[in-house]
Amino acid sequence: MQKTLSLKGRSFLRFVDFSKEEILDLIDIAEKFKTYKKNGVVHKYLEGKNIALIFEKTSTRTRVAFTIAANDLGMNAEFFNVSDIQLSKKESVEDTAIFLGSMFDGIEYRGFSHSVVEQLAEFSGVPVWNGLTDDLHPTQLLADLLTIKEKLGSIFNAKIVYIGDGRNNVANTWLLGSAMLGLDIRICTPDALMPDNKYIVEAHELAKSSDAKILISSNIEQCMEGANVVYTDVWASMGEEDIISERVALLKEYQVNSELMNLSNEENVYFMHCLPAFHDLNTDFAVKVKNELGIDLSEVTDEVFRSKNSIVFQQAENRMHTIKALIYSTL
Ligand code: CP
Ligand code: NVA
Repeated sequence: MQKTLSLKGRSFLRFVDFSKEEILDLIDIAEKFKTYKKNGVVHKYLEGKNIALIFEKTSTRTRVAFTIAANDLGMNAEFFNVSDIQLSKKESVEDTAIFLGSMFDGIEYRGFSHSVVEQLAEFSGVPVWNGLTDDLHPTQLLADLLTIKEKLGSIFNAKIVYIGDGRNNVANTWLLGSAMLGLDIRICTPDALMPDNKYIVEAHELAKSSDAKILISSNIEQCMEGANVVYTDVWASMGEEDIISERVALLKEYQVNSELMNLSNEENVYFMHCLPAFHDLNTDFAVKVKNELGIDLSEVTDEVFRSKNSIVFQQAENRMHTIKALIYSTL
């Protein structure tokens, strides 16, 4: 399997830590790993290595993707719920990082503060992969881009609308990642939820050398013009659940429903979501919000979520193949 030599030993804390060429290489490697997996080709290239998976927030896909990817590569992955270990509580992040770096060949971290993942990378001496912080979710975008490539033939053919909470980790990653790669991205969000100015400035700076087309607007019709991909995420991210009613009030016009999808004049408009999604009343949280506050928190309707142009589970599967490419290339 080809390897992008420049990635060896590097951490992936922000999507834009890697160059456009390095990201495109990773997507190619992920495609090859996907073919290997589908054809039962053994690829235990990293036998004997150990990685730590540290989770301060809950996860289904990211945890599973790292675990299966590591197993397929012949490695051992050790899971830590952050409440099980000393990190930040009775031991500094620095001291924990130094110790973990002496035991493990790589560390995945999901948590609240982005500075923790930065400190782990600074002090562990091994590659650290950001599995989501309040600010950014870089491994998600790798899977999203592989999925768009599979559906549209190239990531550069897509006009992508990210609609919903414009300030969250997924929106920030799309904004910066698209700007660096040179994509056509529209961040569609109400004025109150516009991305942090520091990300807007960075995106425009990155776009100068990539020819990216960036639109950040509250105007749904303008954003949807010619869109081939409509992407959304939950309206209250992990840790923000108590402000859900405020978010529903701001975002209900931005729900992804058939009417919104039809605003694009393109024939095929794909629906994407990082998952988990609220699209029905089959979750405890959706039922609680409905019963106690009398509101619907669904960022997407069940109809669109289950439609033939919804590619959310292909995206979810691609988390594993892309994370495998990332582990393989950085170790
Ligand atoms: N998309 C994503 O990160 O899913 P999990 O929260 O289940 O890991
Ligand atoms: N923005 C969401 C993404 C979940 C994968 C959150 O942080 O909860």
